[in-house]
Amino acid sequence: MAKQIEVTDVDAYYSGHKAIEGISMTIDARAVTAFIGPSGCGKSTFLRTLNRMHEVIPGATVTGKIRMEEQDLYGADVDPVSVRRTIGMVFQRPNPFPTMSIYDNVAAGLRLNHRYSKSELDGIVEESLKGANLWNEVKDRLPKPGSGLSGGQQQRLCIARAIAVRPQVLLMDEPCSALDPISTLAIEDLIAKLKQEFTIVIVTHNMQQAARVSDKTAFFNLAAQGQPGKLIEMDDTTKIFTSPSQKATEDYITGRFG
Ligand SMILES: Nc1ncnc2c1ncn2[C@@H]1O[C@H](COP(=O)(O)OP(=O)(O)OP(=O)(O)O)[C@@H](O)[C@H]1O
Ligand SMILES: [Mg+2]
Repeated sequence: MAKQIEVTDVDAYYSGHKAIEGISMTIDARAVTAFIGPSGCGKSTFLRTLNRMHEVIPGATVTGKIRMEEQDLYGADVDPVSVRRTIGMVFQRPNPFPTMSIYDNVAAGLRLNHRYSKSELDGIVEESLKGANLWNEVKDRLPKPGSGLSGGQQQRLCIARAIAVRPQVLLMDEPCSALDPISTLAIEDLIAKLKQEFTIVIVTHNMQQAARVSDKTAFFNLAAQGQPGKLIEMDDTTKIFTSPSQKATEDYITGRFG
């Protein structure tokens, strides 16, 4: 199910202002890729170009090529809504639909395009909540509102919602930034498990987290405020954290800036 993504020379703009420039990389299937770099260097922007969420912002545009295996994600015949279903996203702040039940939060995406029977839906909801490592905590309160869960549980609920539609790629933008250390470890364990099935990209400001969970790490930086963010280097995570080839990477991971 998991697919590789090939990015070639991507620029992204907000109303003519270039936020990221010349990004090329390969994102491996069934692996975790971490994006690191100082605030404002374009990590979230680049992440959103990968599933065509960037262009939803008025005035925002993308140039360059992004392929998921054989498919050109920006091809003329490609429906962006189907791209967003195949490449799911989990945001920095858990954003469950507040008035919906736990069950409906997970089932929401499934109801959009398909007619599942009640028992099929029940099965997928259970499987997704198990996949997100939340089932045991919520199985007796599925009709209760999703907003009644703790922050860490809500984040796992959002992960369950994202995996319920069976994406091939899962993009996570700082998924642990609002979480306590225990919930953070639960999410990291979950990421380690999910990578057997999905291609995973995670943006994180936590160097230990990047080192713990990822196979590949990409470091982004900008030359100066107002300049576009660029990919400085990307390599095996162990290499980036032990002997990066660029001085800027070393300065960043050792905490000398950013
Ligand atoms: N909706 C937007 N409209 C206009 N400019 C934006 C928008 N979102 C981001 N930008 C600009 O694009 C640049 C990159 O922002 P982005 O959010 O991608 O950075 P980031 O690396 O994710 O930062 P952080 O680590 O703080 O989340 C910044 O200069 C930012 O101000
Ligand atoms: Mg960001």
